Parts: sequence; C-alpha cells; structure tokens
Amino acid sequence: MNIEELKQAFADVYHRQAEKAFFAPGRVNLIGEHTDYNGGHVFPCALSFGTYLLVAPNDKGRLRFKSLNADETVELPLDGLSAPLEKGLWVNYPLGCIAQFVRQGFPLRQGYDLLFWGNVPAGAGLSSSAAIEVVTAFAFNDILAARCDKTRLAQIGQQSEHEFAGVNCGIMDQFASAYGKKDHAIYLDCGSLQFEYVPLRMDGIKLVVANTHSPHKLDSGAYNDRVAQCQLAVRQLRSVCPALQNLAELSARQFEQVKGAVNDPIALKRATHVVAECQRTVDAVGALKAGDIELFGQLMNQSHASLRDNYEVTGPYLDALAEEAWKVPGVLGSRMTGGGFGGCTVSLVREESVPVFIEKVGSAYKARTAIDPDFYVAEIGDGARAIEL
Ligand code: GLA
Repeated sequence: MNIEELKQAFADVYHRQAEKAFFAPGRVNLIGEHTDYNGGHVFPCALSFGTYLLVAPNDKGRLRFKSLNADETVELPLDGLSAPLEKGLWVNYPLGCIAQFVRQGFPLRQGYDLLFWGNVPAGAGLSSSAAIEVVTAFAFNDILAARCDKTRLAQIGQQSEHEFAGVNCGIMDQFASAYGKKDHAIYLDCGSLQFEYVPLRMDGIKLVVANTHSPHKLDSGAYNDRVAQCQLAVRQLRSVCPALQNLAELSARQFEQVKGAVNDPIALKRATHVVAECQRTVDAVGALKAGDIELFGQLMNQSHASLRDNYEVTGPYLDALAEEAWKVPGVLGSRMTGGGFGGCTVSLVREESVPVFIEKVGSAYKARTAIDPDFYVAEIGDGARAIEL
C-alpha cells in the first residue's frame, strides 16, 4: 500500500483524517547472532520493508488500535495502559511502548486513533515486531514531545518486548530499525551501544533473503531459555573470573582456559557459540572493510554451523535452505538470520548466479520439505522516520 491508500484506509476506519505518519523498518542481520544479549557485536541492516503508523488525536479519551494486517480493532481507556492484554495479541507491542512513555512521566492527556500497516512478513525473523515497537516509539516521542534520542527509543521498544510480549530480547532489532541507513550495515557493540555504519560495497554481489515458511517459529520459551543458559554460564564462570558480566568479555583464548568452570553441558555449548560468534563478527566486519567478501561468506557459513550445533536454534527448515545454498556456485555464504527455528536465511550471492540460486535452492528445498520458500533480493533502507502527509 502507498501512503495515499493508507490515508484513505485511516479515513475509512476512523471517519476522519490522519494527522501524522511514521515508518520503521524490519532488519536482516548479516552476522553476530545471539550475541546482543551477551554484550557482543552484531551487524544488521535495515530493510526497505517495514511498518507504517498513521495517527490522529481523538476526543473520546480512548486509545484505538487498528492494524490492516489483523482483524480485530482494540479500544482501551487511557488508564488501561499499564499491563499487557491477552498473550500473543499484536497490540501488546505498541501498547508496551506507550506504557513506557507514561511511566517516564509523559502521560497521555487525550485519546489517539492509530492505524498500522506493515509489509515485513510476520514470524520470519526479520523483526516485524521491532518495526511495530519502533514506529510506535517514534510516533509517541513526537506526539508527547518527549525528546528521546534514537537509542532511548530503541530501548523503549526492547522494554516493551520484555514486559508486554515476554521475550527477553537484546537490543539489536530495535536499534537497527531506529538507526538503519541506506546501503549500510550497522556494526554495533551491544555492550557499550557504540556503533559504526559500514558501507555495503559489494560490487556484483546481492544479499538474498530466503523465507523457510517453516511451521516452527521461535517462541518466547525457547529464546528465553537460551538467554538463561548464557546467564548460567556467566555465573559458573565467575568461580574463575569473578568480575565477568557478559560472555562477550572473553576472548576465544581466555574461554579455552576457563571453560572447565562451566559444568552444565548445555550452558557450555551455548557459551561456546557466543564466544566464537563474537569473534567471527569482528573478523567478518574486518574482512568486509578489507574487501575480502570470500572470507565474510565463510564466516557466515561457520556462524550457521555453530547456531546449528552449539546453539541449536536452526532446525531442519533453516538447515535445508542453508545446505542447499552452500551447494550453488556463486554463493559466497549463507546462514540463518534472527532468532532462529523458523524464519529466514541470508545469503551473499554473485549477481549473475541469483536466478540459478533461486531456482536450485527453491526446488531442492521444496523436494525436502514440501514447502515453497520465498526469495527476496534485499534492499537496504533507512531507519525509522516521520513521513509527510
Ligand atoms: C531476536 C532478538 C534479538 C537477537 C536475535 C538473535 O531477533 O530479538 O535481540 O537476540 O534474536 O541474534
């Protein structure tokens, strides 16, 4: 839908004109998976897909939420913002963000009508929920004149995810949605929140996102388990490294020396992934800056293997897509992206090989899983912003 169609949809739903509009993108992470909540580096970029939010104040003293991607319309009194609604309801994402502003001393003095529409496929590991959170945070920052910077707005989205969706996520998705920059990836240190834009100068190489359409999704339980297993590893490592806060503080060499302190075998596997993935992310960005795309691709493949063997978040659908991609000439690297289980892979593919890649990987995946995957040549876009109406 374009902005004119969205304005019309707003008028159809609320019988009046929208006053403001905002957009926040989804993201694809190139490398650095399950490192963010361990204080490590990530390397995501914003997609040109995202979520739009049109808004106008109302005189009803109520918040009204409508998404063109969902059936239900939700209406709430202004004093009904402090707790999530029924688990799994999409409204919890924006609601959780608005609740953070209220909590920070920016009460709502009137009601608002909100219309959402997004074109990030839901449940695909491309941060459709972060896009909803970040677009809401940007909108209410403007409406309430809260003057939060982008980092704070990303944190508001993350907090909403923790408290209103029950997922103890890191900061990567919301940060990428807030700070995205066209044709750049964001090299973010999740420990310090310092970041650098790195141009994706990859002449003749495309970034292809492939959607497994897997029936298995990453649920909050499996994700929160991984977070807890990493925290357990940190606690056990403190017997030999008393000041340790995050797994990312350990180099691969240091970890080799102290890993015997982790006596929970699952926590040891998870920590093994995190420590190596942190190093791989630093190495991959170094390789990209040096123009060594081959090495970048190899590190992507190693990342997938470690997410499969040590972190156990890939599953048969993502493995099938990655394994089939690895067989195609012209593919420099391929790995799962995002939280895992279902969702998408991201592959670096030589431009002339893209049609063959889509044909070969698509048919082999279908033969293995009886599911048709979707392919999308990623366009790297800008981060969240207001849109002229
Ligand atoms: C999800 C979370 C992120 C991050 C990734 C894995 O997308 O929301 O914070 O942990 O999984 O890298």
